[in-house]
Amino acid sequence: TYLGIDIGTSGVKVLLIDAHGRALGEASAAAVEPVRPHPGWSEQNPADWWTATLEAIDKLSKAHPSEVAKVRGIGLSGHMHGATLLGKNDEVLRPCILWNDGRSAAECKEMEAALPSLRQISGNIAMPGFTAPKIAWVRKHEPEIYAKIAKVLLPKAYVRLLLTGEHVEDMSDAAGTLWLDVAKRDWSDELLAVTGLNRSHMPRLVEGSAPSGNLKPELASRWGIGGTVVVAGGAGDNAAAACGIGAIRPGEGFVSLGTSGVLFVSNDKFRPNTEAAVHAFCHAIPDTWHQMGVILSATDSLNWLSHITGQKQAALSGAAEADFTGPGEEIFLPYLSGERTPHNNAGARGSFVGLSHRSDPAKLAQAVMEGVTFAFRDCQRVLHDAGTKIDRLLAVGGGAKSALWLKMIATNLDMEIALPEDGDFGGALGAARLGFCAAEGADPHTIITMPDIKTVIAPDRALSSAYADQYARYRALYPAIEEARK
Ligand code: XUL
Repeated sequence: TYLGIDIGTSGVKVLLIDAHGRALGEASAAAVEPVRPHPGWSEQNPADWWTATLEAIDKLSKAHPSEVAKVRGIGLSGHMHGATLLGKNDEVLRPCILWNDGRSAAECKEMEAALPSLRQISGNIAMPGFTAPKIAWVRKHEPEIYAKIAKVLLPKAYVRLLLTGEHVEDMSDAAGTLWLDVAKRDWSDELLAVTGLNRSHMPRLVEGSAPSGNLKPELASRWGIGGTVVVAGGAGDNAAAACGIGAIRPGEGFVSLGTSGVLFVSNDKFRPNTEAAVHAFCHAIPDTWHQMGVILSATDSLNWLSHITGQKQAALSGAAEADFTGPGEEIFLPYLSGERTPHNNAGARGSFVGLSHRSDPAKLAQAVMEGVTFAFRDCQRVLHDAGTKIDRLLAVGGGAKSALWLKMIATNLDMEIALPEDGDFGGALGAARLGFCAAEGADPHTIITMPDIKTVIAPDRALSSAYADQYARYRALYPAIEEARK
């Protein structure tokens, strides 16, 4: 059997599959929520990921002892970009600065000025979400910590270190550091030098489907596992999700309605389009790349509305669905933690526009779902501008449970969205599949396949023109509001 471990911002999920790739069991454990010590900051303690990982695997092994005992391969998926700083004895130097932390906007500008070829080599704009600018911030504001840095790991590489004792990272996650030469799939000395680091601070690189180390014997015996367990390179959560739903061939992609929202498409070669804040990264399998547009607050926007109204997310989206007749008066800009694609503005903020006495929670929920939908429409527009054709999109993530939300997205992207059969096709499955490839030396193309499709959601053409108008208003609001906020 093969185990996938998905380290998410809100918790760890583990999934066990058999040699046919079928799910045998899963378990999860909540993580301590990120703290926001200042507006726009977001931090989490690496020790919490480890506690949650142990708790989840312990639960799984209690529920499925004989299947867990047969684990031969493990794959890891993790939230990307987080700067986990380790000293010379691998001690954690400060809380991890997470992917949705926007503090390093000034450092991004300085880095681009220091190395004009930064965008070309890394394939990306220096964005505060990425790892390197966070280190530039630490260098400036916490020099005593910066001086102690011996290694910088991404969140899942830290968990790997505790699982195997090795400092290793896979290409897909490494591409999100801004230290990788993404075309060459190797660390870039020039990029590293911008933050005063060198290769000695970096983990060793492997492909996501290749071995990265073996599970420590004491952990194997904790879970009753007899033989050697190979731990695969694994993938950043987005590339892992793509492996979970089988999107590894050019033009195949997904739309993910998670805490953050992602429009992801696989590419046969490195295709940067930094002008529109498209992310161009390595995929988790050799000789494959991907692009994506990233929305920082997707279901997190509904989560916020849920907090302030005291109504559960499902109740809010259900109420929106019950009342839905088409775009309403309210418009929501989902920039609660700034935005990456297409604005690249960590300082952007959310807005509700067009409120009236009739704006009840259901209407606000509809506007929130539409705002996130328009943000996906922005992403699709800039991927198209980069010459990318999306052939096939599957929907993943918690928000995909809402039929209305999927209908809004299909209508606004003007393409069919396929919803997989019930089951789990996210990062944990992708990770388990990479674990399978690494343990057995299997060809990823034979293991990483698409799931059966439950429904295909078609665009509602009756709403196309109303949505085209609403989207035009939505697009006009961002520059106007930013101007007013100056
Ligand atoms: C991608 C990104 C997020 C995180 C969190 O660039 O920042 O999708 O990986 O899940």
